Amino acid sequence: MGFIIAIDGPAAAGKGTLSRQIAEEYGFHHLDTGLTYRATAKALLDAGLALDDEAVAGKIAREVELAGLDRDILSAHAIGEAASKIAVMPKVRRALVEAQQAFSKREPGTVLDGRDIGTVVCPDAPVKLYVTASPEVRARRRHDEIIGKGGEASYDEIFADVKKRDARDMGRADSPLKPAEDAHLLDTSEMSIEAAFQAAKSFIDAALKKN
Ligand code: DC
Repeated sequence: MGFIIAIDGPAAAGKGTLSRQIAEEYGFHHLDTGLTYRATAKALLDAGLALDDEAVAGKIAREVELAGLDRDILSAHAIGEAASKIAVMPKVRRALVEAQQAFSKREPGTVLDGRDIGTVVCPDAPVKLYVTASPEVRARRRHDEIIGKGGEASYDEIFADVKKRDARDMGRADSPLKPAEDAHLLDTSEMSIEAAFQAAKSFIDAALKKN
């Protein structure tokens, strides 16, 4: 089994960028587990299937191929919303968690990011990071990212959306978003991505020495 780095946190906290940088630095495989929930949601939407039928959603989740996850296609806002809805279903979570756990064992190591990696998917990971930032900062970043790509966005709408997504992710009964007890907290509200990367690196290097 390889070395596992578990990264959790709310939407738009910067954990995706950080996870990719860490995976590249250490030559580890990376899985953005949010994409597995998004792929399940997209398959349901594409097939015109209901988002509230747990048996159907669970079956579709079992068919998701980790190798075919396309970030560009899956990043659409409507898919994120639908993903957050089906992510409350235990049958969907069980199917995706199994696939994520199989991925996590790859050599020489893996970086998985999501909401429940340190608490449920890889509770024995030697390094757990919980990356967060205030809702205001996260909404501002998401807003600026959309504007930067030439799109249109309303800060107020994005802020309301961030709060709604947090409430759904943190409030669900099955695997709610929360830091694992042994997670290192990284609040990126007033920290550059480079500073967050250096902090993460020091936790990882210390754990690798002990390994
Ligand atoms: O990180 P993201 O925006 O791509 O995630 C989309 C949704 O998937 C998110 O609202 C909650 C869900 N999710 C989850 O429940 N557990 C994970 N490990 C990853 C994502």
